[in-house]
Amino acid sequence: MNQQPAAESGAKPAYKRILLKLSGEALMGDLGFGISPDVMGFLAKELKGIVDMGVQVALVVGGGNIFRGEGLARAGMDRVTGDQMGMLATVINALAIQDAIERVGLEARVQSAIRINEVCEDFIRRKAIRHLEKGRVLVFAAGTGNPFFTTDSAAALRAIEISADLMLKATKVDGIYTADPKKDPNATRYDELTYDEALDRRLGVMDQTALVLCRDHKIRLRVYDMDRPNALHRIVSGDSSLGTLVRV
Ligand code: GTP
Repeated sequence: MNQQPAAESGAKPAYKRILLKLSGEALMGDLGFGISPDVMGFLAKELKGIVDMGVQVALVVGGGNIFRGEGLARAGMDRVTGDQMGMLATVINALAIQDAIERVGLEARVQSAIRINEVCEDFIRRKAIRHLEKGRVLVFAAGTGNPFFTTDSAAALRAIEISADLMLKATKVDGIYTADPKKDPNATRYDELTYDEALDRRLGVMDQTALVLCRDHKIRLRVYDMDRPNALHRIVSGDSSLGTLVRV
């Protein structure tokens, strides 16, 4: 698919199918650990807003709010074990999101990249697409199912596999900046950026694997501030003033 938006404004969605990447940290809100009910409620409402417009929505969620392998890896833990623990953390988050989405009256399905059938479905691409076509919000869990790959890479991979028109990366800042805006008062936000620029400048938007995957498969990516009410609705309506667009 990967086509240009069909419309730039109005209530009609500009994108038919999107993939939203949420970090695990995004789910913990002010709690410092775990899952914030307030964040889940807010997210579910925002998602309902766009599903009701007819947009097909898939999510990829991280697990850093529950488990971060890096610290333990530095302390000597086997990296593969750490990454597997991280994948399980994403499954916990995916189930919480499924629950929150169902509570606002939408249908949701979780598909995991590692087999854990008692709690959710396996990732099967063709079934994933059928769920989306039926208007179900699809939550992809367990990253790519492999160690050494980030959930950003999983998001890029799934966006390609489901032929998403747009990938969104929800962050705590409203786009990509020339430098960390929390540390550098002179940092300015990019409205638009190519993947090659993001790669060359090492802006830390996503890891290089994810950026290269998106670039090579012409996925359009918008990085935006997830705390901003109505942001998702505005973006899928074609509002290009929010966040930063990364393109080929
Ligand atoms: P359709 O085929 O479009 O009807 O999709 P469906 O998801 O409603 O039907 P299906 O019979 O596949 O699934 C019914 C319910 O069982 C849904 O809530 C699925 O998420 C769930 N389900 C399906 N496969 C699995 C699985 O392997 N493990 C778990 N735990 N649940 C599953």
